[in-house]
Amino acid sequence: MSRIAYVNGQYVQHSEAGVHIEDRGYQFADGVYEVCEIARDNIMDMTRHLDRLGRSLSELKIAWPMDRRALQAVIREVVRRNRVHNGLVYLQVTRGVARRDHVFPSADTTPSLVITAKRTSPEASAARAAKGIKIITVPENRWERVDIKSVGLLPNVLARQQAKEQGAQEAWFVDPDGTVKEGAATNAWIVTKDGVLVTRTAESGILRGITRTTIFDVAKKLGLKIEERGFSVDEAKSAKEAFITAATTVVMPVIDIDGVTVANGHPGTITLSLREAFFEIAEKTPSC
Ligand code: PDD
Repeated sequence: MSRIAYVNGQYVQHSEAGVHIEDRGYQFADGVYEVCEIARDNIMDMTRHLDRLGRSLSELKIAWPMDRRALQAVIREVVRRNRVHNGLVYLQVTRGVARRDHVFPSADTTPSLVITAKRTSPEASAARAAKGIKIITVPENRWERVDIKSVGLLPNVLARQQAKEQGAQEAWFVDPDGTVKEGAATNAWIVTKDGVLVTRTAESGILRGITRTTIFDVAKKLGLKIEERGFSVDEAKSAKEAFITAATTVVMPVIDIDGVTVANGHPGTITLSLREAFFEIAEKTPSC
């Protein structure tokens, strides 16, 4: 079955889909994006993802590409046309196409909108979660506005590639004082010996992950306490459990940090209970 992409008002063959060479996303990374998980024919946490999209757009002074309700309908249509039952939907909005100039183009420039969907394997993800993943740490080298979900992801790309080359699946950005910020494309968490979940405050220095936000709801339901504070790489290495969250991974246990085994080297029970409860608690929008 061929894949379909939505590009600026049209549903086109994925293999032939393209944007103009002077799209500002292509030339300046002048755009934002969202990734939503699709699980069992439901788009997860769509409201929160669209809220965050609105915030990213407004921080960069890019207009909504269309009315929010219409956008929601197009997202569902892309998922439906690609018959994605479990997978990911990707949405990107850029400032549009204009003759190359750093300053914003004229106010009547239409933002570009691209939406794609792809299938992923729940079985493969479950197998990864049953085993746990390895993390490396890298020095923070990103700009300060990582709260904006911008398509400018070069440090993230390089960090994730370095992780892969070192036999790990994710890299954590770390401040000079040793405090963990977040992963290349995930938020970072630990569980203390007392069973308290710890994650850095989202006020600055990280992206306010939607999965992270929903984990607050999940933790409440499970009666688990969360502390929003920084934690060091050393604290993570000696934690009871560690895990990452993102739309692409949901909750994924971490069993190794920079070659140091976390706890007994197996996914933690609290982490796995959060992973299991996530689907029940997250908002579900039927995709068809
Ligand atoms: N990344 N931090 C960063 C830097 C991210 O890029 C992401 C998501 C997250 C987690 O956010 P959420 O829970 O809303 O997915 C945290 C997406 C999935 C990506 O770039 O593919």
